[in-house]
Amino acid sequence: MLKLHKTIESNSALLIFGILIVASIGGLVQILPNLFDQSLHRGTENIKPYSALELTGRDIYIREGCVGCHSQQIRPLVGEVMRYGKNSIAGEFIYDRPFLWGSKRTGPDLARLAGKYSDKWHEIHLINPRAVVPESIMPAYPWLDKNKVDPELIVAKLKLLKKMGHPYTDEQIKQAGRDIEGKTELEAMIAYLQVLGVYR
Ligand code: HEC
Repeated sequence: MLKLHKTIESNSALLIFGILIVASIGGLVQILPNLFDQSLHRGTENIKPYSALELTGRDIYIREGCVGCHSQQIRPLVGEVMRYGKNSIAGEFIYDRPFLWGSKRTGPDLARLAGKYSDKWHEIHLINPRAVVPESIMPAYPWLDKNKVDPELIVAKLKLLKKMGHPYTDEQIKQAGRDIEGKTELEAMIAYLQVLGVYR
């Protein structure tokens, strides 16, 4: 046994091979059971795909890099659940492409934001966070109120998501451009923020 140990330790190719074997066993033990656990593959009871306006807001959230400061995932730890609300579960995210879980919390987690503030509060806060939270270090996003959303793109986006299994009806897709026409990016963003945590 000791001899085998010595041979492996003194031969780097063998050692790397051995490490790979051990690490992949560890990986499989963690990953394989999740593939068969059906509760991780089903949507939650109230889950539904984002509306045209919410989805547009979500894409602006991605464009502006909000995920760099805000997570959208509450871990099952007492301190987190007390502060943010019920912990997140896999089924809440089946229509999130890409996921916006994030890994940085310069600002608070937003997974259960829906209904915490009024639309008006969000409007003021996004245009100038310091107007409502004087000590805030969040950047201001005044252009969201000036830019109109692009109604051309949304139809193509919904069509693509439908191909990937999101249950949009043909009617919803046809209507999508009209649904968001004339709206500002700010309105779209607020529509999105106000459903965070609702579809679960
Ligand atoms: C540089 C980091 C940073 C970025 C980028 C950022 N935020 Fe924030 N955000 C914060 C901080 C810090 C707070 C806490 C102070 C405050 O409420 O303004 C906050 C608070 C918030 C709140 C209030 C949350 C609560 O529960 O009170 C919302 C909503 C929010 N941000 C949305 C956004 C959105 C949408 C974007 C992208 C357009 C964004 N943030 C980008 C740092 C950031």
